[in-house]
Amino acid sequence: MGIQIAPSILSSDFANLEAEIARLGDADLVHVDVMDNHFVPNLTLGLPVVEAILARTDRLIDCHLMIDEPDRWAPGYAEAGAHNVTFHAEAAAAPVRLARELRKHGARAGVGLRPATPVEPWADLLPEIDMLLVMTVEPGFGGQPFLDVCLPKIRRARELVSASGLDIWIQVDGGVSAETIERCADAGADVFVAGSAVYGAEDAAAAVTELRELAAKAAH
Ligand code: DX5
Ligand code: ZN
Repeated sequence: MGIQIAPSILSSDFANLEAEIARLGDADLVHVDVMDNHFVPNLTLGLPVVEAILARTDRLIDCHLMIDEPDRWAPGYAEAGAHNVTFHAEAAAAPVRLARELRKHGARAGVGLRPATPVEPWADLLPEIDMLLVMTVEPGFGGQPFLDVCLPKIRRARELVSASGLDIWIQVDGGVSAETIERCADAGADVFVAGSAVYGAEDAAAAVTELRELAAKAAH
């Protein structure tokens, strides 16, 4: 698939989501952060808002569910038409069953890993999923500094995916910017979430282009 840039609307103007999504230039995905004030200490939006977004844009929606009980709630996002639905490894009770359900509804199934969650236990389960999300901050808020300590895990995730021969995306999320994206691409990430680096820029579309160029140069 190659390099993909997924701006996060967490850093956009929530009162003008349609316009904020329209100004993302050639972004590949739109990353939507769902937070429930339980799995993370923040509260954002849920399925009704995702449904409203899906009704107003043809862009591919990448839902990042930072919620408890994803086994119960995640399938609704797939049914609604999200392109990708990522649940967290730490929150899922039956990840294989959940991933199968997401795929059954036509979505790609993603598994998110907090900084302290190892990737190795997922090695045998890779055939069940379409994306590994390696968090490069503690999930919950935009604008946090990038955690370099997560880079070795990105490398190990890439090694596992390469060894599997499967087409599984490796996404990074948190503190990804023009400063840090090359390190992520060099380590093997191929899907890059960026919130403040895109919406904090004067020209969001230009920021997407710049991030893509930097990642492409550093990728192997
Ligand atoms: C944080 C979210 C991120 C957030 C990233 O928990 O999952 O998607 O929007 O924001 P930045 O790019 O500003 O770190
Ligand atoms: Zn996210």
